[in-house]
Amino acid sequence: MLSLRSVSRAFGAVAVAEDISFDVAVGDAVGIIGPNGAGKTSLFNLISGDLAPGSGLILMSGCDVTALGARRRSRLGVARTYQVPLPFVGLSVFENVLVGAVFAARDQQAAPPEARALDVLKRTGLLRLADMQAGALTLLDRKRLELARALATQPELLLLDEIAGGLTEAECLELVELIKAIHLGGTTVIWIEHIVHALLSVVQRLIVLDRGRIVAQGEPHGVMRSSQVREIYLGMEPDTDVLQ
Ligand SMILES: Nc1ncnc2c1ncn2[C@@H]1O[C@H](COP(=O)(O)OP(=O)(O)OP(=O)(O)O)[C@@H](O)[C@H]1O
Ligand SMILES: [Mg+2]
Repeated sequence: MLSLRSVSRAFGAVAVAEDISFDVAVGDAVGIIGPNGAGKTSLFNLISGDLAPGSGLILMSGCDVTALGARRRSRLGVARTYQVPLPFVGLSVFENVLVGAVFAARDQQAAPPEARALDVLKRTGLLRLADMQAGALTLLDRKRLELARALATQPELLLLDEIAGGLTEAECLELVELIKAIHLGGTTVIWIEHIVHALLSVVQRLIVLDRGRIVAQGEPHGVMRSSQVREIYLGMEPDTDVLQ
């Protein structure tokens, strides 16, 4: 579904991606971890088309999409959430989701946008808040809305950027169940998350980034025990229970 081939990008002297290569198959759930500034969000920007690589290739379903912008990639089935939720604060929750359903809809044969927006609101637990202004939402509900707006585009590949950060343990569990259900429904998921135990309850593969490079990848528990990961996180107080 997605292949990166030697993708690199720098901002001045800072390499945010350096020789990144990996493949994601249809139905995969892949986790991405790494310290602050490792280049995780930049990697999503490269995949979503918000940032152009300096060199390398990005393929989707075998087609070269390297030169395509975010709008075109959205039409190919890529959707993302942003680390800092930025809803249209003056619009209602329903209207926010409707924007995604109308503008990024790929399948013209699908149900009308209003019906799809309602369906997504139900799935994300936001139906009761449909008429509320998005600017008045709590953090958990803003995160739900971020997810709902992405789901409204009916993505095949969903990119989640630190969607669990700042939530209570109970809220985090709720979100994990929702993401599991989305993945089981057939959507391919790539999830950047600092809350490692949440991530590991969903993903089958883990990629570790540090200073723009992939330093480890593979089966999540094996990767978490690897010397590279221990070195990176030593003294950083990660979610250390998974390192035991
Ligand atoms: N548009 C930009 N211009 C210049 N530098 C940038 C730009 N975007 C990101 N950077 C820099 O690139 C590096 C990687 O940033 P990025 O946001 O990808 O990290 P991250 O792994 O998502 O970090 P965090 O865990 O804090 O979200 C950082 O040093 C950041 O300051
Ligand atoms: Mg980030």
